[in-house]
This record gives sequence, C-alpha cells and structure tokens, in this order.
Amino acid sequence: MSPAPELLRATVLHTPRNPFTEENALHVHTDGALLIAGGRILDTGDYAALSSANPDALVRDWRGSVILPGFIDTHVHFPQTHIIGGLGWGLLDWLRLHALPEEERMGDWVYAGVVARDFIRALARHGTTTALVFGAHFGEAMECLFQSACAAGIRIASGLVFSDRLLPAPLCQTPEQAYRISRDLIARFHGRGGQRYAVTPRFALSASEGMLEVCGTLLREQPDVLFQTHINENPREIADVRAAFPWAENYLAVYDRFGLTGPRSVFAHNVHASDAELSRLAEAGASVAHCPCSNAMLGSGIFPMRRHLAGGVRFALGTDVGAGTGFGMLKEALQCYMMQRLLPDGVPLSSTHLLYLATRAGADALGLSDETGDFTPGKSADLVCLRPAEGTPLAGAM
Ligand code: GUN
Ligand code: ZN
Repeated sequence: MSPAPELLRATVLHTPRNPFTEENALHVHTDGALLIAGGRILDTGDYAALSSANPDALVRDWRGSVILPGFIDTHVHFPQTHIIGGLGWGLLDWLRLHALPEEERMGDWVYAGVVARDFIRALARHGTTTALVFGAHFGEAMECLFQSACAAGIRIASGLVFSDRLLPAPLCQTPEQAYRISRDLIARFHGRGGQRYAVTPRFALSASEGMLEVCGTLLREQPDVLFQTHINENPREIADVRAAFPWAENYLAVYDRFGLTGPRSVFAHNVHASDAELSRLAEAGASVAHCPCSNAMLGSGIFPMRRHLAGGVRFALGTDVGAGTGFGMLKEALQCYMMQRLLPDGVPLSSTHLLYLATRAGADALGLSDETGDFTPGKSADLVCLRPAEGTPLAGAM
C-alpha cells in the first residue's frame, strides 16, 4: 500500500527558474503547501487549493514557518570540520599550518569516523541536504564519510583526494594507488542510496601529470562520476602552477589537457580567471563553486561574478569549510551579496538570486536538476523548514 500523502502547510518559497536569465524565477505561496508522499513532491501551491483537491492528506500545520528547498553546498571539505577559524593566513600558509596537519589525522580511521559523523550532522543541522564534498586522502576515511551520509540520508558526491607531490608524505599516494582505491570506492558507494563518486585531485599544484592522467582515465571509464578540484584561488598558487606546468597557457589548460573540463566538473573559487578560461568553462558546460566566506577569510579576492555571467559560466554557492567560516548556506549567501557590494562592478543581487544560488543552481552544477533544488512535482522532497524562535527579530518580521 502506498503511504498516505502529507500536506505541509507553511509559507513556501522556491526558485524553479534562473533569476539571472528568466522572469518570475521566485515562486511564493504565502499560505502555501507541499503535497508529498514516499519522499517525493506530488504538488506545490496554495494551501486552500491543495487541501480541497486532497481531502484525505494528512495535514501538518507549520504556519509561522518558511519551507525552502534543502540547501546544496557545492564545495565543502569534510576533514576540515574541526578546524574552522584559522585566522591570519593566505591559502598556501593556511594549508601548511592549519588544513594539512588536520588532514593527516584522517589516516586514523577512528578519528576520521568521528569527524565524518560530525560533518554529516553539521550539514543536516544547517539544512543542507545535498553536497559535493572534498574528501580525505585515505580510503578508510572515505568509507566512513560515505557510510555516515548513507545512514543520515544526506545526498553527497565525494572522492578520495589525490596528491603525489608538494604535500607532506602521508598525504601522497602513487597514481596507481589512487586509481585502485577509487575503483574500489566507486564499486562500493557510487549509486548507493543517492551517493555518487567525484574524482578529486586536490589542485594542480600537488598533482603530477601521471596523477592527472589517472583522473582522466577514471572519468572515461565511469562517465557518470563527477570531477572536482580547485582553480585560480590565490595569486601565489597561480604563479606556482604556471612554473610547474610551463606548457600550459593558463591554470584551466592543465586540467583540460587531461580531459577534466566537462559538464560534470566543478571548479572551486575561480577568483582570478582569465577571459580565455571563462570561455572554455562555458563551452565545456563546467561549473564554478563560488565560496565568498572563504575568499574573504583567506584574502583570496572577490569573485568576478559579472564576468562569469557575461561569459555564460554556471556557478553556485559553496561554504568551503574549513577555510569558509561555517556550514550555513544562508550566511554564505549573505556574504555573497556583501562581497558583490564591495566591487565597483559587482552584481546587484536580490534575495531571489541568493536563494537560487544556494539551491537550484547547485542542483544544476551537480547534474541533479531532475532530482532536487526546487519543488517541481516529481522531485525528491528535500526541504528545510525555518521557524524563527518566538520573540526574535526574525519572528517579528514574518
Ligand atoms: N586548494 C588546495 N587545497 C585547498 C583547501 O583545502 N582549501 C582551499 N580553500 N583551497 C585549496
Ligand atoms: Zn576548497
């Protein structure tokens, strides 16, 4: 017997269309409702219409609350959950002093299991139902992450982080090891309970050509896995990449040479992008994870949003914990707004743009727009219900 439908009554907001390019992107139902059954959206609209069309539905009266689509974080590092807040450094020093020592601790799978549970709990507490997760350098730590995500029903894509140079020895594998561990993780977790695998070289600086070759091989062998990495975050990093790959015209060309730029590729940051890189990203249908809290925290720079829009490059929000300042996608969206205000040619963003960047844009970047990101009937019932505490300013504004 199929489960009885439920009618969730509250103010419902979602952005099934792209506000940067389309009219009427924001759908608002002030006294609204979602009709759901078996974890799927059956209908979305005004409560009065939905309740008279579905008299047998079980009504959950959440008036005074706002229902939004579950947030989608397109760039977040699970091993960095415990090290948020390392102040005072730019990217390469922060990696050396804060991130990498903690990432070495993921070699202890008992500790990795604790961090994985804390990480998945933090996503859920912040209303994030889907995430593209930068993994750990150790296979056992990745198992902990996928198992925690499966148990909690959080949809993630993630993968073993590849490095074979520059980083401390415990964080390095050979390309052969990276290939073997990835194949094993793909066989065990890719497609299981909504989880997917993402091929994940840390950044070009810590990958040899042999390692990038392995990335390309994995993508060719498994066309439905994702690809994620970092790009164009910091001027010192970019100069070092130029020195390490003197044959490459720019940073993106290093990845491109190995077949890593495609519609399932998500490049984090891209703060210092050239026009040639933007047009190649657009041509390939690749996406950028925009992480404004991290960009401010590490002093990386301000995201050139206007140039991404003009170039037709897709982008969505990511928290980039632990360089980012926390798991909250609403805070990330606010920072995104504020950083654009600081640029002379910043994009004037509305709350509709911000909701879109925290939800539907992420679904597009991760190839999940048929599954999540808004409340179109047929999609998964991924939602967050926000109810301000009584007596707070937010409650007063509702
Ligand atoms: N580039 C390479 N590794 C990292 C990382 O852990 N965080 C950020 N923000 N950039 C990186
Ligand atoms: Zn990152």
